[in-house]
Amino acid sequence: MYSELVMQHFTDPQNVGVIDEPDGVGKVGNPMCGDVMEMFIKVKENHIEDVKFRTFGCGAAIATSSIATEMIKGKSLDEAVNLSNKAVADALGGLPAQKMHCSNLAADAVRAAIEDYRSKEKGTKNEGEQREE
Ligand code: FES
Repeated sequence: MYSELVMQHFTDPQNVGVIDEPDGVGKVGNPMCGDVMEMFIKVKENHIEDVKFRTFGCGAAIATSSIATEMIKGKSLDEAVNLSNKAVADALGGLPAQKMHCSNLAADAVRAAIEDYRSKEKGTKNEGEQREE
């Protein structure tokens, strides 16, 4: 039912954990099953310097999060924000149709973490601008 790569990332997931003082955090839930995922990113010069995740989810969610973190590490924010759930599933050699929704969780959490970072950045810049006035 699952590809070898899915099993590999499920049994030995990469980048599991939490980043202290992350630059962005994305927390998303899957309404279909109630599973939850958190993604933490460190950003340096507009690139993902480090990424970690933790999930209360199924095996497919763990595998997709694991490979998603590997796919975005070192990438620019613009590249990472465009990560699609299909690209995540394809990178794992496909997912069973009934498990495709699990890959949304990983891609959505990546986007949410980047949006969180960008909104904080914007806030910091605005604050700076206001102080200068
Ligand atoms: Fe919940 Fe897969 S069944 S994320």
